[in-house]
Amino acid sequence: MTKKIAVLPGDGIGPEIVCEAVKVLQALQNSDGLSFELEYANIGGAGYDAEGDPLPDSTLKLAKAADAILLGAVGGPQYDKLDRPLRPERGLLRIRKELNLFANLRPAMLYPELAEASTLKPEVVAGLDIMIVRELTGDVYFGQPRGIEVRNGERVGFNTMLYSESEVRRVAHVAFQIAMKRDKKLCSVEKANVLECSELWKEVVIEVSKEYPEVALSHMYVDNAAMQLVRAPKQFDVVVTGNIFGDILSDAASMLTGSIGMLPSASLDQNNKGMYEPIHGSAPDIAGKNIANPLATILSVSMMLRYTFGNEAAAQRVDDAVRKVLQQGYRTSDIMSQGMRRVGCTEMGDAVVAALQ
Ligand code: IPM
Ligand code: MG
Repeated sequence: MTKKIAVLPGDGIGPEIVCEAVKVLQALQNSDGLSFELEYANIGGAGYDAEGDPLPDSTLKLAKAADAILLGAVGGPQYDKLDRPLRPERGLLRIRKELNLFANLRPAMLYPELAEASTLKPEVVAGLDIMIVRELTGDVYFGQPRGIEVRNGERVGFNTMLYSESEVRRVAHVAFQIAMKRDKKLCSVEKANVLECSELWKEVVIEVSKEYPEVALSHMYVDNAAMQLVRAPKQFDVVVTGNIFGDILSDAASMLTGSIGMLPSASLDQNNKGMYEPIHGSAPDIAGKNIANPLATILSVSMMLRYTFGNEAAAQRVDDAVRKVLQQGYRTSDIMSQGMRRVGCTEMGDAVVAALQ
């Protein structure tokens, strides 16, 4: 059956890395009898430039009709001065919300070949395999009221941290179910010593845990979690946390693996329809130079095959191909180390395609 994939390259390095990921999809199509129909649309700054909207209606419509979405990255300094609703990031937040992609899976795995690339000692990160489940459609990212206004003669900026119990419950279920397929350890991260929102989060996670007696549930304040992630990251199996804490912790976790250029993500709705994107940004400083690392986006394709298309074998083939090119010594600049073979974005994509054959 032909799967419809909406391809949204976005801004900065987005188009370059997406191009390499599409090569991988096409290679699978030729070799594995998989069938994809790709349709491209604008998002972020590209959406604003083309249609005056970081999430044009046509893009949203295409994304809604697709089986899965592949996204590059959004944002760039040229858009920083736009009215807030027109900024690229708002397009990304809106598509997440409109498609109800509340469960954001961000795996942090260290490929043994990249132990050198991590700034942490090899023994601290060797064998690392964590899954961060970040809630993606709630929290201070979306809570109302929000704004900047004048109060008592000075400007104040404000946002609202807010979670309903149903929002916490559904992401907690996703996290427990993932934990059941892994080492059956789940750490819920919040700031319940200070925030009411976190207090409720913790209560609801404990309620949900009754349905998963086999999973060992622990709780950690986010400041401690940040410290533990760099002190002894291998203590974690699955982490579940809110939108903003997950945003921050997943960037920290990425450095354990050597480079943020290696981390893919899946954003899923209730039915495993998903949007797949690298966790890194649009890196405008290196855009168009053919030096970006496409592996996070290619690994996002693997997550698409696994989570939305339920094709574990094809996902595994992509994962294996990535492992193989690392073994062969191919490195983009961000993961380069002595004695390895430095390649650009295109060459890295080509190497993965060759490794798939
Ligand atoms: C991410 C990014 C986004 C976020 C930005 C670009 C809006 O940092 O996906 O982690 O904060 O969610
Ligand atoms: Mg982020």
